[in-house]
Amino acid sequence: MLLSVLLIAHLAVLALACFFRELSPSPRVAEQRGPEIFNAIHNAMRQWGSSLHHNGMSFFLVTIPEDVMLYHGNKSPQTPLCPDWLAFEIEHAENFAPSPSPPHDRDPHSDTAAGGSQNIMVQDGDHAVPSGQEDEVRGYLHVYKTTRPLRFLYADGMSGAKTSMGTLDTQDFLLRGMTIPEYEGLLDGELPNPDGSFRQQPSGPLDESQRATDLCALCKEWGLQGVIRMEAGFEIIKCDFSEGLEEVQALSRPVQHMNDRVARNFEFMRGLSERYDGIGSSRAIVDFSSMVSALFFPVNLTNPDDRRPDLPRIISIGQSQLAQIRHYLTWMIEERLKIPCSRTRTIDWQGVSDLIVSRYADRLLVLAENTDSVEVLSTVINFLLDMFVDGSGVEDQEIPVARCADHYLRSVRPVTEADELIYRAFKVVTHGICSTLFRVRSMVSANPSIPAAQTLASARGELAELVRILNWARFRRCPTCAMGEVCLIPMWPMGSTEDYYHPKCTTGARNTADVENYWDMRPEGCCYWGQDF
Ligand SMILES: *[C@@H]1O[C@H](CO)[C@@H](O)[C@H](O)[C@H]1NC(C)=O
Repeated sequence: MLLSVLLIAHLAVLALACFFRELSPSPRVAEQRGPEIFNAIHNAMRQWGSSLHHNGMSFFLVTIPEDVMLYHGNKSPQTPLCPDWLAFEIEHAENFAPSPSPPHDRDPHSDTAAGGSQNIMVQDGDHAVPSGQEDEVRGYLHVYKTTRPLRFLYADGMSGAKTSMGTLDTQDFLLRGMTIPEYEGLLDGELPNPDGSFRQQPSGPLDESQRATDLCALCKEWGLQGVIRMEAGFEIIKCDFSEGLEEVQALSRPVQHMNDRVARNFEFMRGLSERYDGIGSSRAIVDFSSMVSALFFPVNLTNPDDRRPDLPRIISIGQSQLAQIRHYLTWMIEERLKIPCSRTRTIDWQGVSDLIVSRYADRLLVLAENTDSVEVLSTVINFLLDMFVDGSGVEDQEIPVARCADHYLRSVRPVTEADELIYRAFKVVTHGICSTLFRVRSMVSANPSIPAAQTLASARGELAELVRILNWARFRRCPTCAMGEVCLIPMWPMGSTEDYYHPKCTTGARNTADVENYWDMRPEGCCYWGQDF
């Protein structure tokens, strides 16, 4: 009797524990999503990879050191008093600081002619100036310098792109806790207020000002200065311009001629392409050990849009699971903020990913797609693997594979839970590379009974599958472009579908009238590369 009571009590406790079990990061899930986690680390704060893999699923803490220059364009000589946007690049901010046209360039019958606002990336309500009044507006370019190290939350991917493709998922669902009806309202222009009422008037594209307000309320709780995001250029939602910034200059924009505007279009593209591999000069230090990613959790990230299974989404996760991930994020931020800014990067995981990608990327691609002889294939694979093989030839196959998979991970010592998860994800990637290469190596090591063509086909098939699974952004980069050309990928709000699937070197001078824009939402009348915006 007593025994059965105890047993029932025990079962009840187990059931309760199960019911209330916190959703926590899972090492097994991190392994399943190893290639995606590897790519998130590799692409962080890089314009190229974050444009290709534009649905970011992850957050990182980022420190912007003292004395970094940042830019803000607006239509006032005053520094913003509310949360507002800062750009890492001059030309990005200039887009929001319209230059007046010389009087003879103006066409009084056209709103879109040379005169007036050239804002291609309308960010908030203030910038939605009706056309027609635009000729009188003069922009100001503000330049700021950080006066101390500032800490931000970085939402990865193309998180500044105001689309419904999933680029805003981490902000809207994870951080803001949006429900599906609220999200549908957002897309239809029926917008939820924080008090539960609804309004029609969006605060900028996809209610962008409200988003900034909400995110800044969270940042305030967390002791962070704002959110770092990316569109065509990296930007910051800076919650309070009076904290940690010194205004260096705020100059009104000079008159700009038509020819200048056309040339600037290409120069903007060129400037963006200079940030494909990073924003440079240690302007933003990513704390990789602070990574909190939906990819770590056993949650459904399937895209309901079955044309894009390659893009993960956060749209199918229930409210209670979202709240638990947010809770975990809050915990991680609190833990990491205990560490002084000067020691914020424990492990340079991106550096590790760079060593792996630079050793294997081009070689794998050439072997998979461009190799017509078993001999060449065999030579390159031996080149890659010889250092992991004991020449006496008495080892099991598994030993050199493990040696190869461990190689680049020997220099890291995981500290945080994120480090442990990233380690497992990386290990899956390196093990996938090494085991495939060793398998292909044994295929191609002479077996005269199999015809060479057949060996080549199966070897290339294995390598192509590896390339598909790794899905490195580097695989889609153009070969080096000619001077005066840029390898182009869609960067919101610009770019075509063709640019996404087949990035090419371009001068920007092409007929874009019938080009399909890649993004499902963008400011009205906007925009194609090469368009005279
Ligand atoms: C995951 O989400 C997708 C898209 O919303 C849905 O079709 C699928 O049924 C979900 N899977 C599970 C296991 O719930």
